[in-house]
Amino acid sequence: MDKAHAILERLYDHGDGYLGLHELATATGLTLAQTQRRLDTLAARGHRLDYSPAHGVALVRPPMLDAHLIERRLDTLRVGRNVICFPEVASTNDVALACARQKDADGLAVLAESQRAGRGRLGRSWISPPGANILLSVLLVDDPPALAHEALTIAAGLAVAEGIEQATGLTAGLKWPNDVLLEGRKAAGILVELRKVDRRRCLVVGIGLNANAAPPAGQVDRPPACLAEFAGAPVDRIAVVQALLRRLDAWVLRIAAADLDELHRRWVARCSMLNERITAVSGGTAYVGRVLDVSPLEGLILACDNGQRVHLPAEGATLRP
Ligand code: BTN
Repeated sequence: MDKAHAILERLYDHGDGYLGLHELATATGLTLAQTQRRLDTLAARGHRLDYSPAHGVALVRPPMLDAHLIERRLDTLRVGRNVICFPEVASTNDVALACARQKDADGLAVLAESQRAGRGRLGRSWISPPGANILLSVLLVDDPPALAHEALTIAAGLAVAEGIEQATGLTAGLKWPNDVLLEGRKAAGILVELRKVDRRRCLVVGIGLNANAAPPAGQVDRPPACLAEFAGAPVDRIAVVQALLRRLDAWVLRIAAADLDELHRRWVARCSMLNERITAVSGGTAYVGRVLDVSPLEGLILACDNGQRVHLPAEGATLRP
């Protein structure tokens, strides 16, 4: 293993505490001078280090995103087999799709500390303060085709909610099609895009999760939420990304095997919309009625006030407040 990575692992695993430079050097088989050079390399890559003359060096918390720390102990079969972290990109969805022709592109996870042109659903933009949140895209090369777009869309929301819960202990809810909520306020959004690349069906699951800073309130009735606000302390994004990738991996494997019952059960259990009267807009038409179900293949099932029963796919659909 690269010695800078070995040092980073030790600092990360040590939590808030300082590690003596001699201890680090002995543990990694380096001289003191070599250890200092590797620490300088880490700092040059953007890792924030805090030196204490008496105690040594510590990694400032929460740490910046790091592909090596995320891949370590991830143990997923498909999602996150390769991870790349960028300081800044236009959109992580675009970067992931641009990698689709590469060998082993399936399952690639692309993260960025900041986006210049982050995309949201319905042509909106996704704004996130740099260095604070999770901007993640997972590329799935679906060849031969096995991943239902609808199922993947709701699975992504569920994976985010479950990942948040596993990493932070916070309870996250879901609002169709795929908003992740903390006490009713949006903490994450998902944009699943589909493209053909060399005749292969490629899906990119784009996830924007407010971990340590909520963007400024937009036109929505309630301001967006962030995890740190509810956790009462800054959140380690690495732990959240790992938990989320593990849950997404589990759901993707199930969807590929057309095993959707558990996905349906778990999704509905986190959603407070069942039986609620809502207005949904799909294909330019507004539908008013009572929510009967959310189906992994057919979308939102609504008993309309006019007696009609409609199935609305997630893509392009929105709910009116
Ligand atoms: C929504 O409108 O709720 C969906 C927002 C999805 C934003 C994420 S951030 C990472 C990925 N890259 C993008 O450009 N968009 C998605």
